Amino acid sequence: MNQITITQPDDWHLHFRDGELLNETVPATARCFRRAIVMPNLVPPVKNRSDAMAYKQRILEAAPTGSNFEPLMVLYLTNETTSDDIHEACSQDIPAAKLYPAGATTNSDAAVSGIESLYPVFEAMSDAGMLLLIHGEVTNPETDIFDREKLFIDQHLGPIHQRFPDLKIVFEHITTADAADFVLSGSDNLAATITPQHLLLNRNDLLVGGIRPHNYCLPVLKRNTHQQRLRDVVASGSNKFFLGTDSAPHAKHTKETACGCAGCYSAWGALELYTQVFDDLDALDKLEGFASFYGADFYGMARNTHKITLKRETWTMPEEIALTNGDSIVPFFAGQTLNWQIA
Ligand code: DOR
Ligand code: ZN
Repeated sequence: MNQITITQPDDWHLHFRDGELLNETVPATARCFRRAIVMPNLVPPVKNRSDAMAYKQRILEAAPTGSNFEPLMVLYLTNETTSDDIHEACSQDIPAAKLYPAGATTNSDAAVSGIESLYPVFEAMSDAGMLLLIHGEVTNPETDIFDREKLFIDQHLGPIHQRFPDLKIVFEHITTADAADFVLSGSDNLAATITPQHLLLNRNDLLVGGIRPHNYCLPVLKRNTHQQRLRDVVASGSNKFFLGTDSAPHAKHTKETACGCAGCYSAWGALELYTQVFDDLDALDKLEGFASFYGADFYGMARNTHKITLKRETWTMPEEIALTNGDSIVPFFAGQTLNWQIA
């Protein structure tokens, strides 16, 4: 097959940041995605309806003129979040709230310690039909970084899913066979997003032959058997797994340093890379479900109607993207060849 036409996709997990950077990140995503779930880990975080609506407005101002791009906003749960915050926020344009365990990742200092203390908030979310999005890693410093996702399932996610059977949960950016199997064994109210980097790479791509900081993200890349399991579940066409890029820009100098930031900025090639993965897996017929249907279905939103076509045609991801403040970003897959292009 040299061309594929699918319903316009949505990105169910990404980071736009704020300020000037929106002029880079929003158009890059709006070039192919109709909607995006926008992560709230700003400094300070997006904690309530009024923060979310103000942020949404800034994003819309950065969208290309004439685009019908729709940002979907998310609240950032903290130990101070109340059921009232949930009731006030809950709506089509704030469909979800995000749980970051404190210290798990970029800008998560304000996040939750003592997850059980949030059970009243989960109850309110369950009643209101608001989705719970979870960064699923334990954060105690003594836990090996490669075991953090599995332990989070055992210690937190399993109990939450059992205690709140009506709460819709998205286990974000899963990286292990354990996570894939847990999602498959859960009810219809449990689903997961998967990033392009976790389908394309494993920890050798981070560490063999030298440290590659641009492949460093959290949860960190795992061994190839885990990568293979993620590839298997997307190729299976299961509707419990859908597209969420976790595209996360960091300036080049903050990644190429002694203590580099976590995140891959994939917006420039995300859909093309997912297409490449499904093509490699001989599963192009499963791409549309993953990219365009299952996320919308899980969120209880209408599927998009517009179509988008990709052609088999090689191109090279730029080495760097210049920002107006003089910084630059090294995009995910920089300098490498992609096999698919949006027509
Ligand atoms: O690699 C990551 N980068 N993982 C996250 O969970 C957050 C993200 C970011 O905000 O940079
Ligand atoms: Zn993320």
